[in-house]
Amino acid sequence: MSGTNGSNGSNGSNGDRALRSYFDFEKGLVSRELYINEEIYKREQEQIFARCWLFIGHESQVPNPGDFVVTRMGEEEVIMVRDRKDKQIRAFLNTCMHRGEKVCRYDDGNTLVFTCPFHGWSYSTAGKLVGVAYQEDAYNGALDKSEWGLHEVAQLKNYYGSIWATWDASAPSFEDYVGPFGESIRHCMQSSDGEDAGIEVYNPVHKWRVPTNWKVPAFTSSTDPAHAAMTHRSINVAAIGPQGDKEGGSRAPVRAPFPKKGHVIGDHNLGHGGGYTEYLQTGWRDYVDTWLEPGVDDYFRVANEAKQLKYADKFAAGHGHGGSHFCIFPNIIFDSWRMRQWHPQAIGVVERWSYFAVDRDAPQHVKDAERHYVIRYNGPTGMTESDDMENWNYVYPASRGVIARRLDYNFQAGLARGFENERMPGVTFSQSVSEEAQRARYSRWLAFMEAKSWDDLYPLNKNVDHKVFP
Ligand code: FES
Ligand code: FE
Repeated sequence: MSGTNGSNGSNGSNGDRALRSYFDFEKGLVSRELYINEEIYKREQEQIFARCWLFIGHESQVPNPGDFVVTRMGEEEVIMVRDRKDKQIRAFLNTCMHRGEKVCRYDDGNTLVFTCPFHGWSYSTAGKLVGVAYQEDAYNGALDKSEWGLHEVAQLKNYYGSIWATWDASAPSFEDYVGPFGESIRHCMQSSDGEDAGIEVYNPVHKWRVPTNWKVPAFTSSTDPAHAAMTHRSINVAAIGPQGDKEGGSRAPVRAPFPKKGHVIGDHNLGHGGGYTEYLQTGWRDYVDTWLEPGVDDYFRVANEAKQLKYADKFAAGHGHGGSHFCIFPNIIFDSWRMRQWHPQAIGVVERWSYFAVDRDAPQHVKDAERHYVIRYNGPTGMTESDDMENWNYVYPASRGVIARRLDYNFQAGLARGFENERMPGVTFSQSVSEEAQRARYSRWLAFMEAKSWDDLYPLNKNVDHKVFP
């Protein structure tokens, strides 16, 4: 295949083949090589995961000074901790600066210091090296502890309770990175009554591994409206939604009608995209009783009335709270009830982390009802995503043989049918069943893989054609 539409100045290469030759932009085709080639996978870790703003967790996981969780950025473990002194959230690579042992061997907890289990170097919750065994005898007093603190992320952002970090000091601000999707993230972080930063997440988060390339779920299958009718056919019959078999047993909560239009959208400049609900009038929908468990609807009905007041003369953002989910490049899918992240583990293994949100101030019986619902719905023990995984598991082995790898993946749905919408300037809108979001992720993937630094990536449109698909 040969790409015909791009005009980036730099030529990223993989062996002797330029990366853009793995695309046919006009036909909407992507080579399977991108999912199975070890060199490309290694390059993604450098070019994408070491540069991008990545979601690392939620503030509610570390409410108290000294609280920590071990999270991930790409393949690597990161400690997210609330400092005991200034109470700020910080993030450090989980590796000892002495000789590389994992400093923290727990998933979460509360600590005074992180003490390395190998030779006992210890670090404060601000990442400073505060204790060294045999310091005088071994180093003759010459070890300058101030130079050997834990390796800290270059930038960290608390955005309405969601925590993000990047290893790259030259990356633009988080707000610039997410662009028009900032309002959607903000909406997803609101509680059901429309209060900003009103949620908490269940801790520990749900984690498991899937034997496939990370891009199969994160790029190909995030926002894949065409798969539901086939893949999830059996689930509606089982009536696993919060309303049981009401409304035909739909797996989504019951919702009152509200004037709206559904799209798939893709931001070819920034790489984000997904479903999008364009609300056609201001305000917020009425509440419909949904939950089987007693007393739960009473809580949500009151919260919904409060949200209706807040949004009376405002259009709601097009994602979350029954709108749609969307992917923030490269590997997190946002929704108001769950955040689903795909950490690369190896070329053919991805680790999935799911964070489930609940209104922080909801009574316990509401939190319990929601927890039971997400457990029966999500993950390897739930009913819905186990059928997704059946497909994702087999994509990788069925794509990597000597014959299979010569073929392309087809991302033609909605190709060249995009249009602008003033609700989100700069973003390509498409029909309701479309692969525009996937194509946008690949436009940005290529820009990242070719870019020598953030200078080539931001500000946007600096002599660069970001929208490589028509
Ligand atoms: Fe951590 Fe030596 S590797 S103290
Ligand atoms: Fe699915």
